[in-house]
Amino acid sequence: MSIRLRNPLKMLRSHAIALDVGSGQTIITSPDGEVLLCEPTVVALEQGTSTVIVTGTEAKSYLGKAPDRIRVARPVEAGGIVDFEAARELLRRFLAQVLPDDGRRVKACVVVPHGLTELEKRTIAECCKAAGLSGVNLVSAPLAAAVGAGVDIAQPKGRLLLGIGAGLAEASVVCLADVVHSETLKCAGLAFSEAVSQHLAATRQITVGENMAEQATLSLACASPSSEPRSLTVTGKQAATGSPIALDLVQADLAGALDGPLAELEALVRSVMEHAPAELVADIGETGLLLYGGAAQLCGLDRYFAERLKLKVTLADKPQLVAIQGAAAALRPDSGVQKLLIRK
Ligand SMILES: Nc1ncnc2c1ncn2[C@@H]1O[C@H](COP(=O)(O)OP(=O)(O)O)[C@@H](O)[C@H]1O
Ligand SMILES: [Mg+2]
Repeated sequence: MSIRLRNPLKMLRSHAIALDVGSGQTIITSPDGEVLLCEPTVVALEQGTSTVIVTGTEAKSYLGKAPDRIRVARPVEAGGIVDFEAARELLRRFLAQVLPDDGRRVKACVVVPHGLTELEKRTIAECCKAAGLSGVNLVSAPLAAAVGAGVDIAQPKGRLLLGIGAGLAEASVVCLADVVHSETLKCAGLAFSEAVSQHLAATRQITVGENMAEQATLSLACASPSSEPRSLTVTGKQAATGSPIALDLVQADLAGALDGPLAELEALVRSVMEHAPAELVADIGETGLLLYGGAAQLCGLDRYFAERLKLKVTLADKPQLVAIQGAAAALRPDSGVQKLLIRK
């Protein structure tokens, strides 16, 4: 009796994954780009023994609330691993959630910021292997994001990209399937939330936790004024009295809160263009700026850059996923980008 495999190619492929271990979110997809996991890169461990208590969304809800016996770690900062053991344990748990325990080897295509040092990149690859992956290929985030956004990266055409994640922003000029110039800045989604937190303390004398600051950023903050009504009840602690406080705030209450981080990001993009060859900058006049990464979804950010830089600005469709979609494409021999993204 012969056994027919339902879809042999798919089964073979199911042992390869694309992985993005960001400072904010960890995402795992199948080679087809189907999202298998998307969870915060946060882990709660027992102090001392480092036994994992909870991971992802649940661990993130512990931020600012954990007693001394629990350590809540963000093991990836600005795209690099800062706590190897916590990152390995977190990744091991995440992989176990999405992979069948059939003893087969699993390979991964892993997105990493272009601007990390060789040592930081090697540490990510080693951590992935320590977490159980048998083979790891690293792909450069700006190239992967361009592919994921549908750009034909092999063309002799300059493209400007700005990726804004949680801990790191990276501006890059790409051409002929390579990154011609890129610069990074530790100013991204977490810096937005931090600036909002400081603004609330200065203007409303309210101290808010990390998760509340992020919620206020997502619900209220705008890079350029928007007509869309935005409001949120912000809860925290009254700075003077220490009492609990709840404030109903609207978009205008955060006016100017992000001026600092936005100016830094604008300077980053300008610097990258200044360092790029004239022919490529001329191309960028035509192709514009492509935004990707979760924090690129900040309300009005595309208009902000379009006005300041006098460029056509496009926010990628599903900005948080485009880089990993490019990495997933690199797993598919028929995608035509495998050789462009994975350099041996
Ligand atoms: N609509 C939004 N507006 C502003 N920031 C957002 C929005 N959605 C998500 N973010 C921010 O995006 C960041 C996560 O983006 P992501 O690309 O996953 O980062 P990383 O790859 O560094 O983990 C977080 O800091 C989050 O607050
Ligand atoms: Mg990411």
